[in-house]
Amino acid sequence: MLKLPGLIDPHVHVREPGQTHKEDWDSATQAALAGGVTMILAMPNTKPPIFDAATLDLALGAAKQKARCDYAQFVGAGPNNADILPALASKSAGLKMYLDSTFGELRLNDMTLWMPHFAKFPKDYPLVLHSESRTMAAGILFAAIYDRPVHIAHISLREEILLIRAAKERGIKVTCEVCPHHLFLTGEEPRMRVSGRTEVRPRLATQVDVDALWENLDVIDCFATDHAPHTVEEKDSENPPPGFPGLETLLPLLLTAVDDGRLTIDRIIEKSVLNPRKIFNLPEQSQTWIEIDENAEYEIHAVDQFTRCGWTPFEGWKVKGKVRKVVLRGKTAFQDGKILVEPRYGQNVRK
Ligand code: NCD
Ligand code: ZN
Repeated sequence: MLKLPGLIDPHVHVREPGQTHKEDWDSATQAALAGGVTMILAMPNTKPPIFDAATLDLALGAAKQKARCDYAQFVGAGPNNADILPALASKSAGLKMYLDSTFGELRLNDMTLWMPHFAKFPKDYPLVLHSESRTMAAGILFAAIYDRPVHIAHISLREEILLIRAAKERGIKVTCEVCPHHLFLTGEEPRMRVSGRTEVRPRLATQVDVDALWENLDVIDCFATDHAPHTVEEKDSENPPPGFPGLETLLPLLLTAVDDGRLTIDRIIEKSVLNPRKIFNLPEQSQTWIEIDENAEYEIHAVDQFTRCGWTPFEGWKVKGKVRKVVLRGKTAFQDGKILVEPRYGQNVRK
């Protein structure tokens, strides 16, 4: 039996308020616990988006009623809210900025709209950027100009990881995260090209990109799922929304990579616990750990998951390493496939 600290996932789409048919604070936090994740940071592209005091209260109200693991909620940068967000910073996980297009309506196209957010949001909270390729380069330039930390969400490309390495070497305050689907899948497999289930932002990349992420693991600060549940009906429709669920497959995939000799347990602890804690200034969860049967081999199946979305891009994958038990703040929260804490057990870590 392997014992690890509870994992932190800094990138989760909970879907509440507004799209609870996909997921809500209850189902998302059950999926988290089943995956060995004891703290999630929730993204603001809900309906409505979280971009002022009233919408933040809406999300935090739902979370308080329903969450079973610990959490914090991001606020989102819009065209008109740079003046009001600093007052909400201490209640938030940080500020998320959508600089490239994706699911939801929060994209900031014009760079002059980025400037007041970089200038005004408190510097002890990182700005989390959804920015790909050259937009990412622009985001790093902004970090240098405004001399403040930025965290690049879900990097997927060779050019991105190499630029981040160069920026770090020059002392620019940039950190980054990578998602399991960009480490374990490419857009090149024919089986993945056929359906809307492959739609995700950033898109699945090439084998060259995937290899570059593995070769530059030392540059990657965090693993993050970008758990972005959409129902199987939506994914198989004419107009499939982008996004993959990921909370319940993160750890088994990483542990399988450890078994394959591509990763170490120390790196998992560094990128899923210690670095997110440091980057997002999160409290240590006392009496919190997970127990793993390293030798348990099994197949991933959507029917076994707690997420409401009903599918996984890793359906049928054989993995090695199973979460047996999760203890959160002294209480057994998950054991042998069962959730053992009620809604409201989860705490907002920003209080
Ligand atoms: C995310 C979603 O569905 O909310 N989709 C995705 O493909 N990753 C949005 C996002 O994180 O960009
Ligand atoms: Zn996301």
